[in-house]
Amino acid sequence: MATSAHPPFDANLVRKDFPILRELVNGRPLIWLDNAATTQKPQVVIDRLSYFYQHENSNIHRAAHELAARATDAYEGARETVRRFINAPSVNNIVFVRGTTEAINLVAKTWGRKHLGEGDEIIVTNLEHHANIVPWQQLCQETGAKLKVVPVDDSGQVLLDEYQKLLTSRTKLVSFTQVSNALGTVTPAREMIAMAHAAGAKVLLDGAQSVSHMRTDVQQLDCDFLVFSGHKIFGPTGIGALYGKPEVLDDMPAWQGGGNMIQDVTFEKTVYHGAPAKFEAGTGNIADAVGMGAALEYVERLGIENIARYEHELLEYATAALNKVPGIRLIGTAQNKASVLSFNLHGYKSEEVGAALNQEGIAVRSGHHCAQPILRRFGVETTVRPSLAFYNTYGEIDILQSALLRLASAKR
Ligand SMILES: Cc1ncc(COP(=O)(O)O)c(C=O)c1O
Repeated sequence: MATSAHPPFDANLVRKDFPILRELVNGRPLIWLDNAATTQKPQVVIDRLSYFYQHENSNIHRAAHELAARATDAYEGARETVRRFINAPSVNNIVFVRGTTEAINLVAKTWGRKHLGEGDEIIVTNLEHHANIVPWQQLCQETGAKLKVVPVDDSGQVLLDEYQKLLTSRTKLVSFTQVSNALGTVTPAREMIAMAHAAGAKVLLDGAQSVSHMRTDVQQLDCDFLVFSGHKIFGPTGIGALYGKPEVLDDMPAWQGGGNMIQDVTFEKTVYHGAPAKFEAGTGNIADAVGMGAALEYVERLGIENIARYEHELLEYATAALNKVPGIRLIGTAQNKASVLSFNLHGYKSEEVGAALNQEGIAVRSGHHCAQPILRRFGVETTVRPSLAFYNTYGEIDILQSALLRLASAKR
């Protein structure tokens, strides 16, 4: 018998790694379809955090004792894992931050303040999360720069022709998401980055929704910055990473000042460390950085290509299943999508659908998903948003579909 090149991904087996998936909600097994908001944590991540506090806990770098050495090794080991995960050239390219939001703010407040002035332009797309809009608006207010927005077509895909028209010698930065959290659109990141570079602009790629679903190789993408959050890739909250090209990070002024980031301080003058320490003032989130490292190693063991393949098939199945529900309007129908199914159901407010699904143990987000501009582009203020991860199953999609069919038939 011919064997497939790829053994099927066994979501039912993988689910056993996630203790929370055994929870009952309203008497039903939890169906976690809110992965775009945050992901659940495998036992290895929970154990790694607990091990850190039981055997390694110390502040890092400064003290010369055994636990300081263990904590430092664990923290710097996690930095190496992040480096490997996104194929950065060096650990010095990886700055630990609280998450995507903090990473974008760091770039806006350092690189942005240094390089942007009156008449300069920043380009974002219509798809962006508020975290990739507001910091740039604030920077524009401060510097007199202008924010330009790349429109999307009716499927929710970026219009490359329009993007090309917006790129000029005034464009200093293009900042865009690789996957839209509201629609699931996968943007043509490599092409968009190359186009920005041809115009002489730097690029920040928001990987918050992409790194858990597809391989991310910063050298291949050639982005100047990549940002993501640990909690959206099966790691803890309050930790994330900022990748920057070496020459770009070197050229950035320090952001917060304090301990850890200095080489020498007198009352007259401070000499800073180079990156990444320059951007990590104060005691960081040591344990959660270590936990994020464990999460990335877990994803590496499952294999990101296996994950991408399984999720792609599950998304197609789920899209077809939802399309069979009378009165449903899917918002975001781009050819290239990941994880997200945003929709409205005729006769219901989004929060009513969310509450009804919650009664059945199904967790989805209903609301504006911190991406109001793109929802308004489609004439809506809110949607219901199931979002998938590799531990979701075909059976769970069937249960979601049945619940929606019941809701739909109640309004006919
Ligand atoms: C595309 C995108 N960018 C940025 C963020 C902000 O991430 P965080 O809240 O973890 O900082 C999110 C979170 O939903 C997101 O989906």
